[in-house]
Amino acid sequence: PLLGTYYCKCMINITRLKTIHAVKVQPKTVHDKNSTKFTTFEQMVLFRQNQARKTALVMMDSINMTDDVERFCMSYGRVLNIFPYYTKANKVFLLVEYETQNDVDHLNRNSVHRYTTGTINVITSLLLYRNQNHNFVKYKQPSMIKHYPYADFTVPTLTNIQHNLKQEKNVSQQMLLLYDTLKITDLNVRLRFFTAHQLMFYLSKLFTNISVVPFGSSVNGFGQLGCDLDLICRIKNNKVWKKLTFLSQRLPLIEREEQKQFLAVLSTILGTCIPGIGNIRNILEARVPIIKFFNMNTNMQCDLSCGNASALHMSELLYIYAELDWRVKPLVCTIRTWARNCNLTQETAGHWITNFSLTLLIMFYLQIKNILPSLHFIESIRGKHEDWQASLQFYFTSYFIFLVLEQNMHKVLGQYSWFTKWKISMPHRNTENLQELLHGFFEYYSIFDFKTQAICIREGIVKAKRDNSPVYIYNPFDATLNVSRNITLVELSRLIDSFQIGLQILDFPEENVIVKLIKLEPCTYKSRNTSKALFLNVVSHGDKQNENNSDRDELKHINRITNENNTNVSANN
Ligand code: GTP
Ligand code: MG
Repeated sequence: PLLGTYYCKCMINITRLKTIHAVKVQPKTVHDKNSTKFTTFEQMVLFRQNQARKTALVMMDSINMTDDVERFCMSYGRVLNIFPYYTKANKVFLLVEYETQNDVDHLNRNSVHRYTTGTINVITSLLLYRNQNHNFVKYKQPSMIKHYPYADFTVPTLTNIQHNLKQEKNVSQQMLLLYDTLKITDLNVRLRFFTAHQLMFYLSKLFTNISVVPFGSSVNGFGQLGCDLDLICRIKNNKVWKKLTFLSQRLPLIEREEQKQFLAVLSTILGTCIPGIGNIRNILEARVPIIKFFNMNTNMQCDLSCGNASALHMSELLYIYAELDWRVKPLVCTIRTWARNCNLTQETAGHWITNFSLTLLIMFYLQIKNILPSLHFIESIRGKHEDWQASLQFYFTSYFIFLVLEQNMHKVLGQYSWFTKWKISMPHRNTENLQELLHGFFEYYSIFDFKTQAICIREGIVKAKRDNSPVYIYNPFDATLNVSRNITLVELSRLIDSFQIGLQILDFPEENVIVKLIKLEPCTYKSRNTSKALFLNVVSHGDKQNENNSDRDELKHINRITNENNTNVSANN
């Protein structure tokens, strides 16, 4: 059998082949993927990065070779996990996690690079298994490997899960089921970090101080199957670049220019030297310049940026919130799914609300419900306690035990000033279920005063708007920026209408509420006119200087649509 890579792009032939010497098969210990609990975001990222370093990706010619490849891989080190999967192009892969990085190095050292004359050869980290010796498989003893089922990348459609959702009569249970069905899997997270690690492998051959780190929904706890992989290319230990991590995203021109130039270089490298990369698009004039590409081997749609370090802080903040209370992730999952199906959010950027802004709206709502603390509070604890996140987590996750043992725990925790402060700031802990929170969310934003009020995650309170943007969400890490400034009046109006429709659906004491909410069945509910009123207020009370013609045109347009719709509805009624 041979191992090797298999890409031949343009003039570049990338090969890595290895003649196998049969070695004793080692028993495999099965690693419990659920047993790892991380205290901090940093720990989680380091753990996943380390896992990626101990992982090899092997491509096979056929699914029938799985047993051979598993045994072969085990002959080079102690295998912890093997995940088989196939891509949409029907390529079959095994993602093999070894116990140590040395095992992967051992495997790579023993692989063969097949050099082809007349082309430029590139060393890759991808391996192709070729069974050229059919007598190789001589091991008759049963394999110790726990077989994970073959995974594909099919994202369940709502029609697929409709039946299961309907089995759950309770709305909160339906939300939990939706979350369980759509959340990204362990394999998916591994592939995300592996993709970043591979990119780093290639770039490290050229640049000595580069790291590639995933951020966004891949790591913040809100990832759903099929979500994109946001990657940030960081320059390590460089003063200029380090400084950028503490600045806003409005980078000085020269540095922004540098980013664009650097990304253009990376784009060329991706297109010519790295196997499995396709559909590369440079979007360098965006607010945050990025390169978009698709990694065919790991089935990842990637967005690569550089110098955008505040996005990492943002991912950490969302991660902390997601971990603090068990209700956060299912609630976000339901609302994101609902928004996607109502076309409130789109895959591309535009004048509509982004998943990120929507998530901040949810976080803020949970802050005013005393379920999540303000960023300010988190930072105050962080400054004082080394194990601050453990303390926060302990407090939140043990809430129900806390209710029972409050007196006793108070004796122990009372010595910590943060505990007292927390108790004072949040005297009434919230015990609402998911259904109540979803209802409350729709209700809160149906009547929210978008006209004058802005949302401030840092302080956990509403504040005055700094300008006339229809929706104003203070950037938690830079109070001079509005995260949702892209949202237009038309989109705000649609948003409020949709909140109201959601509210009406939840008010109906019927079964299949979540199915109805995410529009699997025709929705016959009529929206109220509140949003139109709010919408008019936004314009009439707005700063006339900022009220431009396009807004007025939009207003006319939305009024026309609203009037038309109302006429139709009353005619039907
Ligand atoms: P999905 O990809 O839709 O699943 O969610 P996501 O959270 O990954 O959103 P997206 O890919 O659009 O953005 C990735 C990350 O970039 C977010 O999690 C934020 O950390 C950051 N980000 C996105 N939009 C903004 C923005 O408008 N302002 C700031 N400051 N950061 C943003
Ligand atoms: Mg994303």
